[in-house]
Amino acid sequence: MKHLLSIDDLSADAIQEVFTTAADMHDVQSREVKKLPALRGRTVVNMFFEDSTRTRSSFEIAGKWLSADVINISAKGSSASKGESLRDTVLTVCAMGVDGLVIRHPASGAAQQVSEWVEASVVNAGDGMHEHPTQALLDAYTLQRRLGSLEGRHVAIIGDLTHSRVFRSNVLCLTRLGARVTVVAPPTLMPSGIATWSAAAGFETSYDVDAVLPEADAVMMLRVQRERMAGGYFPSAREYTVGYGLTRDRLARLKPDVPICHPGPMNRGLEIAADAADAAQSVILEQVSSGLAVRMAVLYHLLAGEDA
Ligand code: NCD
Repeated sequence: MKHLLSIDDLSADAIQEVFTTAADMHDVQSREVKKLPALRGRTVVNMFFEDSTRTRSSFEIAGKWLSADVINISAKGSSASKGESLRDTVLTVCAMGVDGLVIRHPASGAAQQVSEWVEASVVNAGDGMHEHPTQALLDAYTLQRRLGSLEGRHVAIIGDLTHSRVFRSNVLCLTRLGARVTVVAPPTLMPSGIATWSAAAGFETSYDVDAVLPEADAVMMLRVQRERMAGGYFPSAREYTVGYGLTRDRLARLKPDVPICHPGPMNRGLEIAADAADAAQSVILEQVSSGLAVRMAVLYHLLAGEDA
């Protein structure tokens, strides 16, 4: 595999191979010396044209623990803010002999486009509202560790679906691994055309969170992405929480020990109550540490192979 642009690039077997490597990488996290020589002599550039805390830092740590040389470039502070085009910025950076390019960009399709311009392996770390494949991999890895297998398990994905690349990648990944997926959102945050996609891809949609939650084997809450909203998608924060938030009452109606995921950053009190975020069954911080292992595995598969 040369690039990771979409979950569609991976078969179910390829996903499980990444998970097997990630499990080995996970062990490195508990060692005193967290360093493997696998990517010694390779250079990875993280280019983030959108804000990020966990994705950017976990790609950086992942590269460093594999002994790659890692540098970070963000839109603020790069020549992109002087009007340089994405193509020129990318070609400039790659002219320095870069092996891996991890890119986050507000435009859907940016990572795919960049992969056509450069020789380096490109990892999509989030392109607009399109995909975020490493997030979906780390979510599925976390859930598989908890549930044993995803085959036949019912995962509810709830929240701002319209603006969510996490949802789009997760539906592809979870269904590919045999999970039953139901996505839930208010009508205004349900993507247009979802009926056709859900019928073709084999997942379900619902507007009724209270009907879906008690049946779920895992719950994934998504952030309300206010920075991508131009108008009013719901009357007030309070009404959103009452209709679609994982409140304390809804938490009490989940099956016992159902894992609760959230990709972060969370709007506590809006889509998820503090009681749910901090509940014993919450795997939100486990997602972060799994994310590091999964990103190490992805960089390893892309950059350390015989043909890399
Ligand atoms: C997500 C993203 O950026 O798409 N966050 C993340 O990568 N952990 C989800 C979000 O911003 O809500």
